[in-house]
Amino acid sequence: MPTRKSALVTGAGGFIGHHLVTYLVSRGYDVRGVDIKSPEYGASAAHEFVIADLRDEQNCLQATRGMDEVYHLAADMGGIGYITSFHAEISTNNTLINLHMLRAARESAVRRFLFSSSACVYPQHLQESADVAPLCEDDAWPADPEEGYGLEKLYMEKLCQYFMEDHGLETRVVRFHNVYGPQGTYSGGREKAPAAICRKVALAPDGGPIEIWGDGQQTRSFMYVDDCVTGIHRIMQSDYRQPLNLGTDELVSVDALVDLVCGIARKSLKKRHDPSRPQGVRGRNSDNSRLREVLGWEPATPLRTGLVPTYRWIRDRVAADALQSAATAAE
Ligand SMILES: NC(=O)c1ccc[n+]([C@@H]2O[C@H](COP(=O)([O-])OP(=O)(O)OC[C@H]3O[C@@H](n4cnc5c(N)ncnc54)[C@H](O)[C@@H]3O)[C@@H](O)[C@H]2O)c1
Repeated sequence: MPTRKSALVTGAGGFIGHHLVTYLVSRGYDVRGVDIKSPEYGASAAHEFVIADLRDEQNCLQATRGMDEVYHLAADMGGIGYITSFHAEISTNNTLINLHMLRAARESAVRRFLFSSSACVYPQHLQESADVAPLCEDDAWPADPEEGYGLEKLYMEKLCQYFMEDHGLETRVVRFHNVYGPQGTYSGGREKAPAAICRKVALAPDGGPIEIWGDGQQTRSFMYVDDCVTGIHRIMQSDYRQPLNLGTDELVSVDALVDLVCGIARKSLKKRHDPSRPQGVRGRNSDNSRLREVLGWEPATPLRTGLVPTYRWIRDRVAADALQSAATAAE
């Protein structure tokens, strides 16, 4: 009988990592998950789940030992409010995690190593208008990435290239564009726009106000998490060794995103824009031409379709949180 392939997922306690573990287990992999914390919203499907700080190289070595494929997703990250507020902390943590993971993967002779990069690597001057041209992979250089988080991702992309050229480590680099779905962070400061908007809509009474960061005209494209994990796995299995976008090219404004969620919730809310809050680049979209060429596939879940289970999950969590606080207050 052929032996099962083994996979390490770092960041397995986080949003995408948790979904990826479930996907790989369903495809017959033997999965080890590693994270500094357990998954917040339900048990991991991983055969082995290790709590470890991957800033420490010894922990990275132990995590990678005996693994065929490494899906490296662990990172200190959050939404725009978070990544614009803690440049030193985020850059330091992610530099340590990434360098140590790469060295450990080489030392453990893993077959393939996939790095989760981000659309934040793209030059800011290419993202100054709401009806922005989609970003293609070659646009990343000459570089002018998002401070801190984006710069560190771009440097790690280069390290992946150097480890492949100099040491023969098979690396894959994937640039995610805004991922959303159930079981993602929805409160506490690290949540991203779709989850924050779902939470605000769930909490607002029908006819009430909703606070929106920026003027609401900033644009993004959003990818449903099931498409994201399918894409990650396909890219890992492909022979393509350069960075690849993984996102959708369905560009929407933040106001339009709010309208979609309100429609799903059957609520009519009054938008109150707050231009003093961070909104990131003015517009960002993914050019999927190369992704289509390489994989013959691209993420296809329409935003409205993916928002239905996302909103319902967040609405139920918000209701459960309110019950919990009421019970605690009554004690
Ligand atoms: N979600 C998105 O829209 C998006 C967009 C672009 C790129 N990405 C990248 O995808 C990856 C996964 O993102 P996510 O949305 O699941 O984020 P997430 O924050 O939910 O998951 C990241 C996980 O990494 C873990 N981690 C942080 N520091 C660690 C450490 N020192 N040791 C071990 N684990 C540690 C966290 O505990 C967390 O569970 C990240 O690398 C992120 O930069 C995500």
